[in-house]
Formats: sequence, C-alpha cells, structure tokens
Amino acid sequence: MTLSELFQSYSSQLQGLYSRQESESLITWLFESYLGKSRKDITSNFVLDAFPLELENAFSELLEGKPIQYVTGKAPFYGRELSVNSNVLIPRNETEELVHLIIKENKKSGMRILDIGTGSGCIPITLALEIKYAEVFGLDISDSALSMASQNASSLGAKVIFQKCDILNEEIPFNNLDIIVSNPPYVRISEKEMMHDNVLKYEPHLALFVQDDDPLLFYRVIVQKAKNALNANGKLYFEINEALGSITLELLTDNGFKNIRIHKDLNNRDRIVSAVL
Ligand SMILES: C[S@@+](CC[C@H](N)C(=O)[O-])C[C@H]1O[C@@H](n2cnc3c(N)ncnc32)[C@H](O)[C@@H]1O
Repeated sequence: MTLSELFQSYSSQLQGLYSRQESESLITWLFESYLGKSRKDITSNFVLDAFPLELENAFSELLEGKPIQYVTGKAPFYGRELSVNSNVLIPRNETEELVHLIIKENKKSGMRILDIGTGSGCIPITLALEIKYAEVFGLDISDSALSMASQNASSLGAKVIFQKCDILNEEIPFNNLDIIVSNPPYVRISEKEMMHDNVLKYEPHLALFVQDDDPLLFYRVIVQKAKNALNANGKLYFEINEALGSITLELLTDNGFKNIRIHKDLNNRDRIVSAVL
C-alpha cells in the first residue's frame, strides 16, 4: 500500500467525526508523529512496507474521538512542543494570544509573574522563556497537572516554581508580584451541550467548569486576593468566557482596578481582560 492510499483510507474513515479538511490535517499530524513522514511524502508514491502497531493504535484512538494531542501526548504552544495527558487541558490558541499580549506589553526584565491554574504549564513556561530574567511561579490544585507542568518546564529548560494551591480556599503564597495571569475554569455547566463530545469525554472537567449561578467564582476570588499579592501598578491578565466580558469588567472596576481593557481574539470574540492595580 502507498502512503497516499493509507492517507485516503484513514481520512475518509475519520470523516464521520470531523470535516474533510480537519480529518486530513489530523492524519497528516499522525503520519508526522508515527512515521516521520511529511505532507510531501504523502503526495509522492511512497510505498509503506510495514505498518507500525503504534500507528494503528493511535488511529483507533482518533476514531474513538480522542483529541490528537492526547493520542500523541504532544501539543504545540507558542512555537514549542509541550507534553500533555488527560490530567491537563490541551492548550488553546486563545491562550497563546493571551501570552503574546503579556510578552508584547511587558518588556522590563526581572519581573515577578504568577500564573494561577497552570495546567500543562503553557503560560508560565512560555513567559519564563520569553521575558528576560523573569521570576515565574505557577499554581494549581491538581498534583497530576503540577507534575506535567514541572516535566514540561524541565524539558524546555524553563525556570518556573510550581506549587500546589487551592486558590478558592488558600491565600496566594507569593507577594510583590508584577503580573498575575490566569485562565481559570469558566465554562458554565449549561454550556456543556454546545461543546464537542471529545472535549467533554477526554478533557479534565476540573479545568473547565463552573456552576451557572456563579460563573465568575474564580475571577472574584483571584481579583480579591490579587490586591494583596500585586505590587502597586501590578497587572492582572485573564482569559475569559466570551459571554462574560462586561461583568468581568464591572468586577474589576468595583475592586478599584484601572486601565481595564477587553481584548478581542483573532475571531473577534471578547477573550482577554487586562487591568492595572
Ligand atoms: C482552564 S484550565 C487552564 C490550564 C492552563 N493554564 C491553560 O491555559 O491551558 C484551569 C486550571 O485551573 C486548575 N484549577 C481548578 N480549580 C482550581 C483551584 N481551586 N485552585 C487552583 N487551580 C485550580 C485546573 O486544575 C486547571 O489546570
């Protein structure tokens, strides 16, 4: 069988779950990971003399709806590759935009930066590698997320201090911070039905959901605690639920923050809020 025939067969089988374009890009990703073959090899008449068992197993998982990042154990983020497993959220494009905004707006060296709800560690690891001499910390309630984040930091050579903390019930264990960033759980339980099955089935619910009657729970607690942990003129950056921009803005105004801005993502949705103490 040629690589191109296998590509056609795999991508047509996937088309029950994904669009044709998505299926083709997923299979390209799979071939790169398990066969070391690029898109160019797929279009040539390359003949496959053996099927690695790993590739077949990975394809079966993909057919069951498992996200490709959990199948390969790798997720791209800001030009680097992070390891991921089912204990951590798959880093999203809008989080890359959040990180990019922080890097763009904060060029000073030696800043103290804290990420709350760190998951794979994508935010603090990238900030530690992109901002000169930053002192970077990451908190999470989940031991298994913290262990994935530490593994990512050490394999990418990023210096980040990770610590276990339940932000809803404990104080922020650091002070004199210049920046606090957080992408906390913000999906309302009622929004579940609009979500893709493979998010609901495979991604950690601890990372995603909040009760409908208190969707700003994490934001309210973090805003309150940040007032003690930030330096004067310290900055707060949040990723937000696109439906909750104006009430997040109100929350920050009521707590005395200034220069409050809502930033739109590439799809023109309200996805980031920043403010200064
Ligand atoms: C939306 S995920 C964000 C993960 C990562 N920062 C990212 O952007 O991909 C939220 C994270 O908050 C953590 N979390 C949930 N409840 C928490 C709590 N009470 N205290 C601290 N972290 C919590 C979850 O374990 C999860 O890693």
